[in-house]
Amino acid sequence: MRWMGFTIAALAALGALSACNKPANGPPAETTTAPPPATAPAPMTDAEKKAALAALPAPYNTADLDNGESKFALCSTCHTLQQGGPNMTGPNLYGVFGRKAATVAGFTYSDALKAAGWTWDAQHLDTWITDPKVAAPGTKMTFAGMKDPKDRTDVIAYVMIRTGYKP
Ligand code: HEC
Repeated sequence: MRWMGFTIAALAALGALSACNKPANGPPAETTTAPPPATAPAPMTDAEKKAALAALPAPYNTADLDNGESKFALCSTCHTLQQGGPNMTGPNLYGVFGRKAATVAGFTYSDALKAAGWTWDAQHLDTWITDPKVAAPGTKMTFAGMKDPKDRTDVIAYVMIRTGYKP
């Protein structure tokens, strides 16, 4: 029965074909997560972000950290956040909450910010980044201002988490 042998061979070939097609058509065996961008500071897991966020006072505890991080790109040309980070065009911001304005060692502040006299808290930072030249006329922080209140809340939450904020 020659035809039967032929059919079996043909079926086997078909089977081999569909087996070959399977990996291409089916879902990938493993889902790989993209590595974080090389410029990011120490990456946090989603669980760590959630816990850090929950520890912040309202309304910062409901902020969108990913948006805050992306908005901080507007600040990171001039500021570092990590402990021991260098002063750049602007001073390093680690530990800024609870610190008197214009007191980072080794940074030369404007007279305007030296005279400000306030201690940084979320409210002052919010006013500051809304428009620094209104908050302290004569400041040398040349930043046009962040007009969207939600963006400010998100970026402040991000700065809190990255600069070691303690309630
Ligand atoms: C073009 C550079 C530049 C950008 C962009 C910038 N800053 Fe600044 N920042 C400065 C400079 C310069 C100072 C010092 C101001 C002074 O002495 O008047 C400063 C001061 C500060 C201070 C006060 C620090 C202290 O020790 O008292 C904070 C807080 C701050 N910036 C936060 C931010 C945040 C948040 C952003 C983004 C929303 C931002 N800055 C964007 C340059 C910049």
